[in-house]
Amino acid sequence: MTQLTETPNPSTHARKEDHMKRSELMRRGRRIGLVTAALMLAGTGAALAHSAGGGVDVAVEGEPAFSLSPVYHILVAHFPVGLWMTAYLFILIRTFSDAEIAVRLQKAIWPVAALGTLAGFVTYSLGLTIYPLSAITESPLGRNHIMLATWTLSYWTVMSILGYRFRRHLFVGAQRWVTFTLATIGAMVITITGTLGGSLTGTPSLVTKSLGWIGWNVYMTFYLPNWMLVVFFSGAVLLVVIGVVGRRRHA
Ligand code: HEM
Repeated sequence: MTQLTETPNPSTHARKEDHMKRSELMRRGRRIGLVTAALMLAGTGAALAHSAGGGVDVAVEGEPAFSLSPVYHILVAHFPVGLWMTAYLFILIRTFSDAEIAVRLQKAIWPVAALGTLAGFVTYSLGLTIYPLSAITESPLGRNHIMLATWTLSYWTVMSILGYRFRRHLFVGAQRWVTFTLATIGAMVITITGTLGGSLTGTPSLVTKSLGWIGWNVYMTFYLPNWMLVVFFSGAVLLVVIGVVGRRRHA
């Protein structure tokens, strides 16, 4: 009697392994997500408990409008700040080291950045609920905080998507320095957003003061010359063109 011997197809095997790795990653991601949600709920409970007496009471005069105590925004703001800066720390470690621990940390970069982005959206929405937009935009410092928050959130949203999409190539060759530079810009914009928030609450940090040393008085309206807008727009178009040409050549 002849016996059928099954020779494992290497590509099927690789696919199975890939599938197992992905579901393990998903399981871990779910666990991290659940823990973050639980922490946020606990934090919200704490904020609720403190918002009556010990927190800041906001009295809105005139037209009654929907408004939430700033404690929610201030509390949740620590999540994107912490998560994005952790992602930056992992990127720093991986940029300068090929050690096993650094390679392992690389796998955590995009999930940590993406969780930060998720928390960033919650923080941004809570920020919008403190004062009516017409009120906060009366203050140049308020406008600067919103402007930097918008840059930061958009920037890290793109970084999270790119980080996921190109997660295996982030530190290959010269790309390592591109990743490092982009992440450094990301760390800088979130630092400025945070410090402007702190200045809004009346506790400016040394970062706010050092922005003054480089010529940006954050208590005044941020002006950009028109020619800078032209430079920005041309830069954006150029980047899109480089991307399209590069893709065509690659294909
Ligand atoms: C990613 C987005 C944002 C981040 C990371 C962020 C971060 C912060 C931080 C760290 C503080 C200071 C907390 C403290 O001093 O303990 C703050 C305060 C503040 N933020 Fe934001 N913010 C964001 C978006 C926004 C937006 C979109 C608005 C309004 C439209 C806003 C309005 C405010 C206000 C009004 C305060 C001062 C609250 C007070 O008076 O106590 N924020 N923010």
